[in-house]
Amino acid sequence: MPEQDYLAELIKKVKAEKKKEEQQKKPAASVGEELEKSFRTGEDETAPGEETMEALEEIAGKETAAEEAGAAAIAAEAKGSEAIGAVVAERGAAEEAPEKSDVEKEIERAAQKKEITAYGEVKIYQIPGKPLLYYYVPVARPTKAEKTVISTIKEAATRLITISPYRIREPEQRKAVYTQKILEILRNSPELHIPERRFEFYAECVVREMVGYGIIDPLVTDDNLEEIMIIGPRKPVYLFHREYEMMTSNIEFYNDQEVIDLINRIARQIGRRVDISSPLLDARLPDGSRVNATIAPASVEGATLTIRKFRKDPYSMIDLISLGTISAEVAGFLWLCVEGMGAKPANILISGGTSSGKTTTLNCLASFIPERERIITIEDTAELNLPLKHWIRLEARPPGLEGKGELTLDILTKNSLRMRPDRIIVGEVRHDEAFTLFTALNTGHDGCMGTVHANSPQETIVRVTNPPMSVPEVMLSGLDIIIVEHKIHDKKRGTIRRITNISEVSGVLLRSPQTQTIFERDPVTDTIEKTNAPIKYLKILQDFTGLSRNRIEEEWRERTIFLQQLSARGIRGIAETKKATELFLLEGR
Ligand SMILES: Nc1ncnc2c1ncn2[C@@H]1O[C@H](COP(=O)(O)OP(=O)(O)OP(=O)(O)O)[C@@H](O)[C@H]1O
Ligand SMILES: [Mg+2]
Repeated sequence: MPEQDYLAELIKKVKAEKKKEEQQKKPAASVGEELEKSFRTGEDETAPGEETMEALEEIAGKETAAEEAGAAAIAAEAKGSEAIGAVVAERGAAEEAPEKSDVEKEIERAAQKKEITAYGEVKIYQIPGKPLLYYYVPVARPTKAEKTVISTIKEAATRLITISPYRIREPEQRKAVYTQKILEILRNSPELHIPERRFEFYAECVVREMVGYGIIDPLVTDDNLEEIMIIGPRKPVYLFHREYEMMTSNIEFYNDQEVIDLINRIARQIGRRVDISSPLLDARLPDGSRVNATIAPASVEGATLTIRKFRKDPYSMIDLISLGTISAEVAGFLWLCVEGMGAKPANILISGGTSSGKTTTLNCLASFIPERERIITIEDTAELNLPLKHWIRLEARPPGLEGKGELTLDILTKNSLRMRPDRIIVGEVRHDEAFTLFTALNTGHDGCMGTVHANSPQETIVRVTNPPMSVPEVMLSGLDIIIVEHKIHDKKRGTIRRITNISEVSGVLLRSPQTQTIFERDPVTDTIEKTNAPIKYLKILQDFTGLSRNRIEEEWRERTIFLQQLSARGIRGIAETKKATELFLLEGR
C-alpha cells in the first residue's frame, strides 16, 4: 500500500476508534480538546497551586497503563501493513535531508566569524562586514515524509495522553512530561519500526506541534528576545534581542501555508481565525506575549507574524533607574505622585512614540499603588503585569464574525466606573475612551493613568483635545502630570529609553492650557534634572495632607534615598520592589 494511503488509513482508524470510545463512555476530553479549552477559558493561567515534577510524574504514571494498552492497539493496527519507520527509510533515501536555511549556509561559509555569546542552545555570531548579527539555535527540520509521520504520532498521542494540560502549569514542565509520554509511546510500539535514534527527533517535533509553536518554539521560549518577526516564507525570521538588538536567525518557514497554519493555531486559542475576509489578527499568547498577524491580501509577500515577547520578569522602577531611563530623584517624585501620600494621588499620562517604553513605565508606576486600593486596568491586549492582588483586568475585543460582540476601550472604561474603582488605568488612550477617562478624572477619580502616542507635552495636549479623542480643553484641569519617554539611538550604547520631560498642565481655567516643564533631560550629560519652575503638585499635596512644604520635600528625599538603597542592595524584581516600597510606607506611619 502506498505510504500516503497507509497513513491516511491509520489516521482514519484512530479517529473512528476515538469517536466510538467517546460515544460509548464519554471519557475524559483528549489532550487536544483540553488544551483548546484551557486556552479558551484561561484555565491554564488560573490552575490551582504549582505542581512539582514528582507530582506530575505520579499523575503521568497513573495514565501509563491505559496508554500502553492504547499504544499496543495502534501498533496492532500498523501490523500487517507497511510500518511507518520502513516507509520513512524508503522515502528518506529518495528525499534529500532537510535543506539548510540561507542564514545557516552563510554562517557555515563565513571564513571569519566570531561567536559573541552563547546560552542554552543559542549561539550568536558576528560576521565581519555584515550589518546584523546572526542568531543560531538548532531546530529539528522534518522532511515532507517525516511531517506525515509526525502528524500521525501527534494524532495517536492526542488520543493516548490523557493528562489534562492545565494540570501542568509551567509550559516547560508540560513539554517535558509530554516528551516523556511520547517517548514511551514510541518505545512501546516496536511495530512502528522507527529507529531508536530518531525517537528524540520525533518526540521534539510532536511536542512542539502539540504544546508549542512549531519551528519558532525555541524563539518563543528565549527570554532574551524582545520581538520575533516573521516577514514571510523563505526569509529568515528576524529577532530583536534585548542586548544585541536586531538580528537574523537561522529559522525559516518554507512556504506560506506553514506560517498561516501557525497563525491560525494562535488565532484558535482566542476563538478567531484569519482568512481573506479578515486578514489581520491581534492576539495574546497564553504567556502574555502580544501577537499581530497579517496574511494576503493585507500583506503582499506572504503571511507575517510579529510577537512582542512578554517579559516573565518585568522591569521594575529600580531597573529603570539602573538602565538610566529615570533618575532615583525623579522616581522618588513619581512615587509621591502615584501614591499621593495617602491623600491625593496624581492623574498621569505617559506619552511617547511607538515602542518607547510607555507601557513598561506605566507598569512600574502602577506598582507604587498601595495594596489597599482597588485597581481596574483596561487594555486592547492585556500587557500590564502588576504585582498587585486586588486587580481587575479588562481587555477589549474586536467584533466577532457576525460583526457583533465588540468591546471597545470606551465601553470597558464606562463599565469600570460602575465597579467602584480606586484607580482606573487605560493602557493606551486613543479614541473616545479619552473622554470617559477625563470625565472620571474630573469627577473625583484620582490616581488614574494611561499612555498616549505623542512626542512632547504640548503634542499630548493637542492630541487629547482633538479628534478622535476630542476631550474638551476645560477637562484638562483633571490631568496633573505628563511624562514623556523617548526611544533614542545612541551611537555608543545602541538603543536606549529615556524619560525626557515631565510637565504639569496650567492655564486651563484661563482658557489657554499650557504645559510647564518641571523635569527635563539634558542630552549632553544624559541626565534628567529639575527645572526652576515651581511644582504645582507639591502644593496640592500640601493642601491635601496639611503637611508643610519642607516635610513633603523631606519625604521625597527619603523615598529617593530608599530607592537608591534598594538598587545598591540588588533588590530589583517588580514583586520585591513592590514589597519593599509598601513596607517603607507602613513603617513610616
Ligand atoms: N526603560 C527601558 N529600557 C530598556 N528597554 C525597555 C525599557 N522600557 C521598555 N523596554 C523594552 O522596550 C520594548 C517596548 O516597551 P513597551 O511595550 O513598554 O513600549 P510602548 O511604548 O508601550 O510600545 P507600544 O507603542 O508598542 O505600545 C519592550 O520589549 C520592553 O521590554
Ligand atoms: Mg504600549
